[in-house]
Order: sequence, then C-alpha cells, then structure tokens
Amino acid sequence: MDITTLKKTVLDELAKCTTADAASDLELIYLGRNGRVNELLKGIKSLSLEEKKTAGKDINAFKAFVTEEVRRAKSELYAQEEQKIKVDVTLPPPLNKSGSLHPITIAVNEITGIFNKIGFIRMSYPEVDWEYYAFEVLNMPKTHAARDDFETTFLNGIPDKKMGKMVLTPHTSNGQVREMERLKSTPPIRMINIGKCYRPNWDATHTPMFHQFEGLCVDKGITIANLKGTLEYFVKSYFGENTEVRLRPHHFQFTEPSFEVDITCTMCKGSAVVEGKKCKICKSGWLELGGTGMVHPNVLKAGGIDPTIYSGWAFGFGIERVNMMKYGIDDIRNYYTGDIRFLNLF
Ligand code: DAH
Repeated sequence: MDITTLKKTVLDELAKCTTADAASDLELIYLGRNGRVNELLKGIKSLSLEEKKTAGKDINAFKAFVTEEVRRAKSELYAQEEQKIKVDVTLPPPLNKSGSLHPITIAVNEITGIFNKIGFIRMSYPEVDWEYYAFEVLNMPKTHAARDDFETTFLNGIPDKKMGKMVLTPHTSNGQVREMERLKSTPPIRMINIGKCYRPNWDATHTPMFHQFEGLCVDKGITIANLKGTLEYFVKSYFGENTEVRLRPHHFQFTEPSFEVDITCTMCKGSAVVEGKKCKICKSGWLELGGTGMVHPNVLKAGGIDPTIYSGWAFGFGIERVNMMKYGIDDIRNYYTGDIRFLNLF
C-alpha cells in the first residue's frame, strides 16, 4: 500500500469537485462505513504484528489527511457558491420591505386635504419664534402662566426691544398675526397653520414636541355660526359622519368668546356605554378636541386689521390628540418611540 499515491489520488479527485456536495460524496467514498479507509483497515488483519503497527499508523495518518483536505475543499467550494449567488443577475430580486409614511405625516396630509377643500391655505410658521408672536400679540400679558419658563422653553440670547426673547413656540397660534402681516392686514384670511410645538412635559398625553393645526378665518361678517359649521365639517370628515360637535364656554386670552370643542366619543358613539358598562375612554359620551373662539379685537389690531369692520374665528387642535381619538390610542409616546409594531398599524 502506497500512502503517498493514495494521498495524491485524493487530491486529484477533490480538485475535480466543482460543488461542496461533490466533495461530500467523495468524503463518504473514503471515510464512510464501507469506505476505502475502513477497507484498508480490514486488509491489515493478515499482516504480522510489526507490519500491523506501521500500517495502522499510516492508515490513521491518511484518514486525518483526507478529513482535513475534504474540510478545506468544502469550505472553499461553499465560498465560491456564495460568490456565484451574489453575482447571479438572473435571480429574481429579494423582496424589499418598503417603508411607509409616519402616522403623523399621514394625519397632517389628511387634515390639510380636508381644509384645502373649503379654501384654507396650509401655512408653516417658525418653530423658534419671538415672544412677540407667541404671546404678546395674542393678548397674553407678561404675567400669564404660559410665559413662565416651567411652561415654555426660552432661548438664551439678547432680547429684542420689541420682540422680546426667542422661544420654542408652545402653540401654532404664533402664526395668527404672522398670517395677517403676510396678507398686508387685508382679509379674507383662511389659514390652516400646521407645525411643531414644544412644552416641557412627558407622560401618556404629552410629549415635549408635538404638532398642532391652527385654523384662522377673518373676513367681514364672520360669526360663531361659521365657526360651528366649519368645525362640524372638519369633525365629520375626519372622524366620520355620525360624530357630533358641541361648544363649551371657556377662556383664552386671544379669543372672546372662547370655547372648548367636544366631539361624541369615537368608542361609545356618545352613549357613554360600551357592552353594558361605562365607556372607559370618555366616561360621559364626549371627548375634548381643543380650544377655539372668536378672534379677540386686540389680536386683530395687532395684525393691523380693524375689528370694527372685520371679525374672525380661530382654533388650535393637537394632531397627535385627534389621531389618538380617531384610532383609540391611549399613549401619545407611541408616536415617538419608533416601535415598528406600532408604525406598521398605519
Ligand atoms: N393655543 C391654544 C393652546 O395651545 C389652543 C387654542 C385655543 C388656539 C383657542 C386657538 C384658539 O386658536 O382660538 O392651548
């Protein structure tokens, strides 16, 4: 038995293998139960004790050689096969999971569309704005609670004499007088201002950054009836035909009179009862949407508009809030934690 020749044969045969599977077959031929190595071992029975010793050693060395060479050949062949797969341009492409719009973007687009239909123009006003636009022109005195730095984020810097300090705007109402100025104090004004707002809170109903949409309508003869009609149109378009609206007296510095808007609960449809039990979402049949009212004469004046000739209404609602109400989402933080299971729902 010439081990050197055998080794050479194995190497030749392995060199002919073009796939890892072929190398595995060869492995069986040599190392399998009825393979060549075992045949060789059987063959040494007839030898003398001395001869057995050397032959046994040689065969074991041969076995180790085959094992190692097959392993090497297989790993090379696997690598080649993988390489081939990478460049096989005839294979169909892998199915890519496509991305989708964020639920807030979807809501912004939907709300913009609803107001576009009745002639409102979408505007975006600064997120970092002067105190002047965020508070002063909105009839909010320096002592107003919202102007405390627990409520609003003020930026470092030298305050401007007229404009005051810079703030991260806490509401989209900063767009009201800016829009009046843009239109050179000349109504009609029909604006929907959508933007980011900032308040230092973080819990199930507050995130430090959130979105609002601010409606503003100014013209001759604008009344609460126009306001209510517009709100009903929006609510029925966004939440569904059967949703009802009510106005509740309230107070805001920049509207007079002021209201809070409620809509019938999207879960119990206003009945306050779900499956014989009190509705957990609203408890009363109604859910609060946000604030509204007739634009305060001082705000119109700040925008250069004569309140004896023109009147108007305004409202400000949270985008996250209306979206949560529409879909029964109970924690606003879902929008901003990036959990793909939540995002996939939209
Ligand atoms: N700016 C108010 C807020 O963020 C919401 C608001 C209330 C806006 C009444 C208005 C309005 O335009 O008329 O809480």
